[in-house]
Amino acid sequence: MTGPRHFLTLMDLSHQEIREVIQRGVELKTLRRQGTDTRTLEGKVLAMIFTKASTRTRVSFEAGITQLGGNALFLSGQDTQLDRGEPIEDTARVIASMVDIVMIRTFAHDDVERFAAHSSVPVINGLTDDFHPCQILADLQTFFEVRGDISGHKVCWLGDGNNVCHSWMNAARRLDFELVVACPEGYDPDSQLLDACAAQVSINRDPVSAVADAHLLITDVWASMGQESEQARRATQLAPYQLNRELLDRAASGALYMHCLPAHRGEEISTELMDASESVIWQEAENRLHAQKALMEFLLAS
Ligand code: CP
Ligand code: NVA
Repeated sequence: MTGPRHFLTLMDLSHQEIREVIQRGVELKTLRRQGTDTRTLEGKVLAMIFTKASTRTRVSFEAGITQLGGNALFLSGQDTQLDRGEPIEDTARVIASMVDIVMIRTFAHDDVERFAAHSSVPVINGLTDDFHPCQILADLQTFFEVRGDISGHKVCWLGDGNNVCHSWMNAARRLDFELVVACPEGYDPDSQLLDACAAQVSINRDPVSAVADAHLLITDVWASMGQESEQARRATQLAPYQLNRELLDRAASGALYMHCLPAHRGEEISTELMDASESVIWQEAENRLHAQKALMEFLLAS
């Protein structure tokens, strides 16, 4: 018997499955707008384990499972026995025996892999130091809604080659589009992942040429959770990579721009672009709800 399907990185879904989840996300959004009942996961329980802060991930998962007829349990690391040293493997066996699906946000990606290896129910990565695949499902849904299929387009990532960037690299591999990562030396994405994505992903140190002809510009905070002490150094070194009007004007006409939030206005993104009427950033944030509802349905049906 095969084990449950997990979603630890985008590579856990085929390109066709990613498209199916996005399509269902679009559909669930329409149904919610219409006020249609979508209790497809009646009675299902989602355990949400957080050892890092969150606004969007917590609210979207908790609201999402509730709208689908299920319930969510919020478990912070410090309120469970995890912070007192209970092994992840033991925790996984016990929690999985009581709930239907688990979402984890934590530091080490390896911790989520170990949890999943000992879980009899699907495990979703709600962000680790290395990946944030749920965010990219919502981002892709947003691009599909506004511009259509992303395959064959050019995307430019600006700034730190971090967890969100890594998941965009996997998206480029799975959906076959060009991704240029514009970052200074010392901020490159993981080298092994770069090698694996070499056909779709390249590095360009020059933000101006990197954004040329791009259909989508993306950025994220310069200091991720856990890197707060490096904030000042990062702000200095990454300043030329700020997503602002000047760079947007050098991208393809009508280019979109995204930010997973939370944002630092005036650092990685200009205040003007954050507040511009053409921004899809708020749509992107809302789509976390719809895309993850589709993801939970998919994993529980698999
Ligand atoms: N984008 C995102 O994951 O936001 P939160 O940290 O608020 O969950
Ligand atoms: N790269 C950021 C994303 C937050 C949603 C972090 O890991 O803190």
